[in-house]
Amino acid sequence: MMNLMTTIFPVGAHLAGWRHKDAWPKTNMRFEVFIAQAQLAERGKFDMLFLADGNAVRAMDDPVMFVANTNTDRPSTYDPLMLFAALTQHTRHIGLFCTAVTTYDEPFLLARRFGSLDHLSNGRACWNIVTGNYEGDSHNFGRSAHVPRHERYERADEFVTICKGLWDSWAEDAFIEDKATGHFLVPSKVQRLNHVGKHFSVQGPLNVARLPQGYPVLASAGQSEPGRELAAKHAELIFSVALTKEEAQEFYADQKARVERRGRNPDAVKIMPGVTVYVGRTAAEADELYAELQDLIPPPVGVASLSKFCRQDLSGYPIDGPLPDMSEEVVGMTSYRKSIDQLAKQQKMTIREMYKLIVPSAGHVIFKGTAGQVADQFEDWYRSKAADGFNVINPVQPRSLMDFVDLVIPELQRRKLFRTEYPDGTLRDMLGLPTPQRQINPHGAWEFAKQA
Ligand SMILES: Cc1cc2nc3c(=O)[nH]c(=O)nc-3n(C[C@H](O)[C@H](O)[C@H](O)COP(=O)(O)O)c2cc1C
Repeated sequence: MMNLMTTIFPVGAHLAGWRHKDAWPKTNMRFEVFIAQAQLAERGKFDMLFLADGNAVRAMDDPVMFVANTNTDRPSTYDPLMLFAALTQHTRHIGLFCTAVTTYDEPFLLARRFGSLDHLSNGRACWNIVTGNYEGDSHNFGRSAHVPRHERYERADEFVTICKGLWDSWAEDAFIEDKATGHFLVPSKVQRLNHVGKHFSVQGPLNVARLPQGYPVLASAGQSEPGRELAAKHAELIFSVALTKEEAQEFYADQKARVERRGRNPDAVKIMPGVTVYVGRTAAEADELYAELQDLIPPPVGVASLSKFCRQDLSGYPIDGPLPDMSEEVVGMTSYRKSIDQLAKQQKMTIREMYKLIVPSAGHVIFKGTAGQVADQFEDWYRSKAADGFNVINPVQPRSLMDFVDLVIPELQRRKLFRTEYPDGTLRDMLGLPTPQRQINPHGAWEFAKQA
């Protein structure tokens, strides 16, 4: 069966989604809206809720974009770990796929926060490991420029390795809380990490007991060369971008081969591309929603938005002319740029055609039509090794998620492609991922225990 997650951010993924008549009237810092989204997704038996993140207010140098939309710029947003911790009290089953940037954080602090989330949620935490896709983040952390990619990924690798070591601090049965003997814990069941590396020195142990899942599910989303290698080494779930099935198949095959080359089981790594869904009770209803949203985008905003995805200012080029060559790698996020460059060349698309394609899709592929037509496309990608599951991206919230739950989920269930009930257990159990065994650090035993 396929796995499904959905983006919880209540501003729709279409650039004009929040302006549509069926969008939430207000979303900013409204916890009740997030609760409603989460409970709706849980009604649909989704595996996970996804929340992206960064550390800056973006697009302030681009007035056209700054006032127009907040979908990926997120000028005001909850800290994902705090939000998901609160949502654990309003949901029971759904996984909490939470982005956290390694470039500006400390492994001890983040390991502790994810450990807390995994305990608070009874084993539903998932960490989207990112190195940061926005140059402006660096200005909030004492730097004048974005950290170069190789350094970000080198640090991320060490960061994740430390977190794993910290989550191995305590054995599962370390805290006995024995009133009779007065022993709250067993000293031999804890170990220090004693890590000294290029970027960090961390002694440990972590001040959080062994997590219900051992480690949170580890996910990543980078598509650059070092991004793919980091994913091959650590990720159990990979969130990808592909505008065509062929591109998704290429990524799927490449990433699974990289996982295998590192001696890991490729079946224990799930590849989940993003898909923006426009579904209606009839094909005409889906087309109508799409057209209504397209009409709400002024062309300068379309070009500005495409420029953002491409990491290149396209406003000086004729709107009905071809896109410039974008094969050159740039600092920041390359996943979308690469995909757009490839498609523009293949299909000889103009700037206007491209923004009309990208803006309604939030950079991802679009599946549009009736529930049957949409389910056909999910099934086709799933069966042709383009995906193990999908991140369902909703153009207008809450309408799109509601329609997905009411129309597409039952169709996928009828085809036996998706669950009808939540299974017992942790998120790992739901995804069919193994629970990591605690690794013993030969130099980590507690000194007192060593003497005993
Ligand atoms: C679908 C998708 C979602 C992503 N979400 C985030 C995010 O929320 N925050 C972030 O900083 N980077 C995000 N990224 C970006 C990366 O994971 C990565 O950090 C970024 O692309 C920079 O690395 P690169 O140079 O390898 O592209 C996302 C990427 C993809 C493909």
